[in-house]
Amino acid sequence: MRIHVINGPSLDRLGKREPEIYGRESLEDIRQWLERQCAGDELSFFQSALEGQLIEALFRAEDEGADGVILNPASYSHTSLALADALSALHLPVVEVHLSNIHGREEIRRRTLTGACCKGVISGLGKFGYLAAIEYLRRAG
Ligand code: DQA
Repeated sequence: MRIHVINGPSLDRLGKREPEIYGRESLEDIRQWLERQCAGDELSFFQSALEGQLIEALFRAEDEGADGVILNPASYSHTSLALADALSALHLPVVEVHLSNIHGREEIRRRTLTGACCKGVISGLGKFGYLAAIEYLRRAG
């Protein structure tokens, strides 16, 4: 499986950023762990704080022939019609992942504009959410 893993704003600060919510592992720790779990798959990782770059990364996944995408749009989940439109235009299965349980947090985080345009949303399972999303893409994507 060729899977693109795309992470949005402030996820490059994982490990230092609100560790009581997001844990003590860095994005690089999670990347290395996922690579070990999915040794037979071709994973490609991208992170940006910029909405336009995330949109370009989604279309690049399609253009490069990926089998699926895992997207953690971070705060853009709750605000970005631009990302939601891009997801609707994409011909690839996308699973949205949130490390924290967005349904157990502030009201504004409970709605995800982008999640509505994905196959599904995994939330609250920490790094295991990324692994579950890969497993879904492998079996059903
Ligand atoms: C997040 C949840 C979002 O509400 C938040 O803005 C993030 C991270 C998560 O992975 O739990 O930046 O997407």
